[in-house]
Amino acid sequence: MTSIAKRVCLAFAAVLLVMGSFFFSADPAAAASYTVKMGADNGMLVFEPAKLTVKPDDTVNFVVNKVPPHNVVFDEATIPGGDKALAKSMSHKKLEMAPGDTIEVTIPKDAPAGDYTYYCEPHRGAGMVGKLTVAG
Ligand code: CU
Repeated sequence: MTSIAKRVCLAFAAVLLVMGSFFFSADPAAAASYTVKMGADNGMLVFEPAKLTVKPDDTVNFVVNKVPPHNVVFDEATIPGGDKALAKSMSHKKLEMAPGDTIEVTIPKDAPAGDYTYYCEPHRGAGMVGKLTVAG
């Protein structure tokens, strides 16, 4: 092998090494983030989308869109295990007023799989209810 060929080989190996470490550092189970509008574009009192499938450690950003105020409340009666502390930790009782304001809810790493129903307190009666399905 000529010395130039050796250098090309080394450079190529170095590139492969860098690319390899890049792929390994990219976590295949990286947490995802989702956006749920509070109040549909047409002014309907709904969460949009109202149903979402997520995984532990994912983040759901509830964004004030139309007809505020809104909040996000999980009830222990409507989440797996009836865990009051878990329901409280995922809830955001403070009412958000300004369009664009965001309530960030991260699914706890140890959240049990199942359906988590939540609602907006002022608009629950109007049907502003949503569901997160936490996949196991
Ligand atoms: Cu609301």
